[in-house]
Amino acid sequence: MTRQELKKKKIGVLMGGMSAEREVSLRTGKAVLGALLEAGFLAVSIDAGRDLANRLATEGIEVAFIALHGRFGEDGTVQGLLEMLGVPYTGSGVMSSSMAMDKVTTKKILLHHELPTPAFKVFRRGEDLDRLLDGCRHFPLVVKPAREGSTIGISIVRSREELAVGIGAALEHDELILIEDFIQGAEVTVGVLAGEPLPIIQVVPKGGFYDYHAKYTAGQTEYLLPAPLEGALQQRLQQVAVEAYRALGCDGAARIDFMVREREFYCLEVNTIPGMTETSLLPKAARHAGISFTELVLRILDGVGLRKS
Ligand SMILES: Nc1ncnc2c1ncn2[C@@H]1O[C@H](COP(=O)(O)OP(=O)(O)O)[C@@H](O)[C@H]1O
Ligand SMILES: [Mg+2]
Repeated sequence: MTRQELKKKKIGVLMGGMSAEREVSLRTGKAVLGALLEAGFLAVSIDAGRDLANRLATEGIEVAFIALHGRFGEDGTVQGLLEMLGVPYTGSGVMSSSMAMDKVTTKKILLHHELPTPAFKVFRRGEDLDRLLDGCRHFPLVVKPAREGSTIGISIVRSREELAVGIGAALEHDELILIEDFIQGAEVTVGVLAGEPLPIIQVVPKGGFYDYHAKYTAGQTEYLLPAPLEGALQQRLQQVAVEAYRALGCDGAARIDFMVREREFYCLEVNTIPGMTETSLLPKAARHAGISFTELVLRILDGVGLRKS
């Protein structure tokens, strides 16, 4: 759809929702809604709860801008509902969203495409914990729920005992747990917009760990843009980010997180609905590339559709 055509449609900005990242999503959604209204679109906010299908029908929503993070939003479920209802939506499709939401599946796809990601093990609720603990001899490790975001449920562990505690904490969020080699190094993120890489941002959390607080509290993280990395390394990172985006079949905007150690780097995850709050990384990278926040929102909107790969 052209922007001219989109101007005639009623756009629902889907925000909030039922995930642990609800608050972040409300912030993303508000910012997106503001940009759409400012650009002259007919847009309303829709809180994506259990009654979403009804809300979309009663409000007469013709196009959905998905500003949800995490479960029931970034994971393919809302995309599936919109496919069924025939409401074109922004961002990645059903399968791409659900694969990217699951860090274990993402890593398997990356490995299949020979893209670098930290070595890992997987633990499922109910499996033999001692056996897993016996198999983990090198520390530190990072323990994560497979399908969560915003650093929720993640811990860095330095011993067998800490690992057991970390798994217990992650199990509160998911039954599938990822145990990954800790990469000591610089943390960077690469935005990809409609298949094209944006400038790389290095994040330097003041507390050392890019946790929920560091991510969403102004002043808690230093953002280096452009990232102080050598040119050839930056090019390789951008190339791998685009390859990861393609490998997972992403659409619209995505943001790929990496750890960089000397000249090597490792992909941590692919975010198919990157945050668009005032501290968010994607709008910062876009701005550096000369793309205003409103233009970023419109470029994501340009990609609305159905039956995405
Ligand atoms: N393997 C790792 N080595 C070092 N730090 C990590 C590793 N995995 C995660 N982290 C830290 O935890 C943060 C969140 O991890 P990430 O995999 O991006 O999950 P999410 O952002 O979805 O919560 C990262 O931004 C990074 O600071
Ligand atoms: Mg991340």
